[in-house]
Amino acid sequence: MVMAMAMAPSSSRVISQLLCLLFTLISHTTAQPSFLYHFCMNDKGNYTENSAYHTNLNTLLSTLSSNTQIDYGFYNFSQGQGSDKVNAIGMCRGDVKPESCRSCLNDSRVLLMHRCPNQKEAIGWYDNCMLRYSNRSIFDTMEPDPTYLLWVGINATDMNQFIQVLRNLLESLRTNASSGDSLKKYAAGSAAGPSFQTIFALLQCTPDLSEQECDDCLVRAISNINDRCYGLTKCRIGKPSCNLRFDTSPFYDSTADASPSSPSKESPPPPVTNTNATSTKGKSNSTGIVIAVVVPIFVVLVLLISVCIFIRARKRKRSFHNHNDTEVDNEIEPIDSLQFNFDTIRTATNNFSEENKLGRGGFGPVYKGKLSNGREIAVKRLSMNSGQGDTEFKNEVLLVAKLQHRNLVRLLGFCLERKERLLVYEFVPNKSLDYFIFDPIKRAHLDWEKRYKIIGGIAKGLLYLHEDSRLRIIHRDLKASNILLDEEMNPKISDFGMARLFLVDQTQGNTNRVVGTYGYMAPEYIMQGQFSVKSDVFSFGVMVLEIVSGQKNSGFHKGEDVEDLISFAWKNWRDGTASNIIDHTMNNGSRNEILRCIHIGLLCVQENLADRPNMASIVLMLNSHSLTLPVPSKPPFLVDSRGLSTIPSWEYSSRETD
Ligand SMILES: *[C@@H]1O[C@H](CO)[C@@H](O)[C@H](O)[C@H]1NC(C)=O
Ligand SMILES: *[C@@H]1O[C@H](CO)[C@@H](O)[C@H](O)[C@H]1NC(C)=O
Ligand SMILES: *[C@@H]1O[C@H](CO)[C@@H](O)[C@H](O)[C@H]1NC(C)=O
Ligand SMILES: *[C@@H]1O[C@H](CO)[C@@H](O)[C@H](O)[C@H]1NC(C)=O
Ligand SMILES: *[C@@H]1O[C@H](CO)[C@@H](O)[C@H](O)[C@H]1NC(C)=O
Ligand SMILES: *[C@@H]1O[C@H](CO)[C@@H](O)[C@H](O)[C@H]1NC(C)=O
Ligand SMILES: *[C@@H]1O[C@H](CO)[C@@H](O)[C@H](O)[C@H]1NC(C)=O
Repeated sequence: MVMAMAMAPSSSRVISQLLCLLFTLISHTTAQPSFLYHFCMNDKGNYTENSAYHTNLNTLLSTLSSNTQIDYGFYNFSQGQGSDKVNAIGMCRGDVKPESCRSCLNDSRVLLMHRCPNQKEAIGWYDNCMLRYSNRSIFDTMEPDPTYLLWVGINATDMNQFIQVLRNLLESLRTNASSGDSLKKYAAGSAAGPSFQTIFALLQCTPDLSEQECDDCLVRAISNINDRCYGLTKCRIGKPSCNLRFDTSPFYDSTADASPSSPSKESPPPPVTNTNATSTKGKSNSTGIVIAVVVPIFVVLVLLISVCIFIRARKRKRSFHNHNDTEVDNEIEPIDSLQFNFDTIRTATNNFSEENKLGRGGFGPVYKGKLSNGREIAVKRLSMNSGQGDTEFKNEVLLVAKLQHRNLVRLLGFCLERKERLLVYEFVPNKSLDYFIFDPIKRAHLDWEKRYKIIGGIAKGLLYLHEDSRLRIIHRDLKASNILLDEEMNPKISDFGMARLFLVDQTQGNTNRVVGTYGYMAPEYIMQGQFSVKSDVFSFGVMVLEIVSGQKNSGFHKGEDVEDLISFAWKNWRDGTASNIIDHTMNNGSRNEILRCIHIGLLCVQENLADRPNMASIVLMLNSHSLTLPVPSKPPFLVDSRGLSTIPSWEYSSRETD
């Protein structure tokens, strides 16, 4: 008894000590949290150790923790003169308290200088704050790039409804955020979405921007939703000048005083069971007051009718997806052979019916259709604003439609009516390559001869895009699901030229909009947003290895080991066991040709982009078996390479899914 009594306090002390230890461990590991994302701007110049620039940077950033400007969650200062001048901007999320803001920025400064050693310009984002510095003047200027996107791959249950509610919420938050003052441009709020969900969203600009600049930045961020976050429930988009986040779980502090949040923030409004009612709910509320006034029935009727007309008109103006209205304005006649009438497409796709839906690409759903002359088409219904005016859009479509090659899916035309933007493509009967090669049964039907033909066809299509067409298109999202197959299993590349149709600066080869698909993206594209023909070559190399092995690069496993296909292929090739890579369901075909393809694939995925061959030499290598191939060097991601540090921020997107 006594023992036990004595034990109790001491064991509780042990437990509390353990807890303390645990907390210390946790706080130690969280003391150096990783950025959600960061960019080191390699091309903007380097400083040397202990140079004047280095000293100025240190001085500037160390004043962060003592500066009172941070009390507003925004910090903009510069240090030094002339070419050694350093400018820095720090911004915390609008609802973050000054002390957390200070410590977030303090963490950022340590990590950013560590992650981007000697880089004159860098930018990093944490959950609660953003820090950037540069030798350029960065105050009072709207900078929409670089951009990062983080998402969780969970689809909203009622996608169209979800997107509608989200759009309305973001539109209203956008106005509130951009009309903020010079200390804070921030808005957060929530709205009742379909399936009992509440959508929480947040928008923020750096407050040194003008109202117009802030608005421009947010419009771009909102249109970036199309890139990867369309229809998903969780997403973050960050730009130097503004950021956006939405989620179906609450993530911001709605009690923060400065948050001009919606009234529904404390307790989410009761979800509506009838999903059709959500979009009109607000409007009927406001008109309800009018109707409640006691007036003769006749007046009420007149009022009701006019309100109905008004609501319908507004609904039609706003609605993006709903074309169930019977009357459709037909005032836009085809101005040239490429322009389709909306009605024609609607009839052809049976009013965009679910049965006609072929799938969804990065820019919106794709429907199968049949024109009255019997021609089959595929219609891509662009989901949101491309950020481009009608004329520019038409001009770009005309250019992209001129790209014609047997290994490209042909763009037949477009439709531009009201807010709808549709792209009309030739219909390619078989499904995409991923449907075949990653399926253990279906891929058995793809013998080596077919696979070799597919590899060759993709190479030719890509060569045309890169070098032979007058536009010199870089695809940027080349992957097995973007390769369609016709009746004879000829490959056709789809989704090319999308960067032209959406506002992306193609001229400088560095948009910093990382929009590719993880697993296919070249390291320089993931890390610095640099794309070039060589980043397409990298994606091509990944596809070649996937076609040979019948395995996905991401999520590849062999026995117990989980590693990526590229590393597996390289190790085996190096150790002379390259035949381990070959899909064993493929039991015929020239061994030499297969090994040669693996070799070419490995040349394409080399870390150093200068070492990767261009498409012209790849086509040559595939055609001429006598050509001696160079020895490939190590692919990226194999051992701890410099850049590996940013990968976990992408894993963030998948970690939350389970
Ligand atoms: C910033 O540094 C780069 C590289 O050293 C230099 O080319 C550029 O002119 C500098 N910009 C300013 C505004 O000093
Ligand atoms: C700066 O240094 C990085 C590596 O530390 C290098 O990749 C980059 O090319 C350098 N930039 C310039 C402009 O010299
Ligand atoms: C800033 O971070 C450094 C290094 O992590 C730490 O030593 C220092 O105490 C921090 N300062 C503040 C004010 O948090
Ligand atoms: C989300 O929806 C798209 C098509 O609408 C589908 O291709 C994708 O597999 C879905 N993702 C998940 C995780 O359900
Ligand atoms: C920093 O931002 C504030 C508020 O936006 C502005 O009034 C001030 O002039 C800026 N400071 C510098 C050094 O640009
Ligand atoms: C925008 O601001 C207005 C006025 O402060 C407020 O009534 C409204 O709820 C805000 N909207 C959102 C979505 O937060
Ligand atoms: C919504 O409206 C459509 C057509 O107007 C109807 O088919 C559907 O059943 C409605 N959904 C609900 C939940 O009422």
